[in-house]
Amino acid sequence: MIMKKTLIFVTTLDGKITHWGEPHVKRWSSEEDKKHFKNIWNKSYLIVIGSSTFDAEPLKPTPDYHYIVMTRTPSKYKNQEVLGQLEFTDQTPNDLLARFEKEGYDEMLVVGGPHVATSFFKEQLIDEFWLTIEPKIFGVGGNFVIKEKFDIQLHLISLEKVNEQGTLITRYSVTNKK
Ligand SMILES: NC(=O)c1ccc[n+]([C@@H]2O[C@H](COP(=O)([O-])OP(=O)(O)OC[C@H]3O[C@@H](n4cnc5c(N)ncnc54)[C@H](OP(=O)(O)O)[C@@H]3O)[C@@H](O)[C@H]2O)c1
Repeated sequence: MIMKKTLIFVTTLDGKITHWGEPHVKRWSSEEDKKHFKNIWNKSYLIVIGSSTFDAEPLKPTPDYHYIVMTRTPSKYKNQEVLGQLEFTDQTPNDLLARFEKEGYDEMLVVGGPHVATSFFKEQLIDEFWLTIEPKIFGVGGNFVIKEKFDIQLHLISLEKVNEQGTLITRYSVTNKK
């Protein structure tokens, strides 16, 4: 079974994914983006997240999802683990993919943050990148990838203006993946 890996982010016009480094994205993203994010989350089952993003807003285990939190020290989170629902792992993106493909899953949602996105891009695993662009400029804040030499080519699948201010929901496919 070949798995589709979708990465999703919301950014400002100047490419910031946090407001001055403050971790709570929902404080500045538009209602329309929140709805879009909730919609894709609800349709997913395997959801990958980095430990920093998890720490900022911990996820409650539920049988509806298999959350995979990437960390170099899974032992730190041992008491929070719930088998098949909330997993903490130091497996590489390639190993995670191989494991879940073998188990028959066909979709994986990668919700960041930047370190996790970079790990997946480095291994050329992202098929689609869904980026919401909010008409804001923050000047200071994180980017959706960390400093790394990339040459990723994408192709626009769709572009939707979802409110009066001009929030854009874009979907791209990565054309030079593995
Ligand atoms: N605007 C958006 O759409 C959006 C989306 C997501 C997150 N964010 C923001 O991004 C910020 C966090 O960014 P971040 O880059 O620091 O965090 P992150 O990617 O969520 O987490 C980074 C951590 O994940 C673990 N990790 C990443 N790649 C790994 C790998 N290949 N193997 C093992 N562990 C790996 C490491 O954990 P350990 O340190 O535990 O080893 C690393 O320190 C938060 O403020 C969050 O709100 C914004």
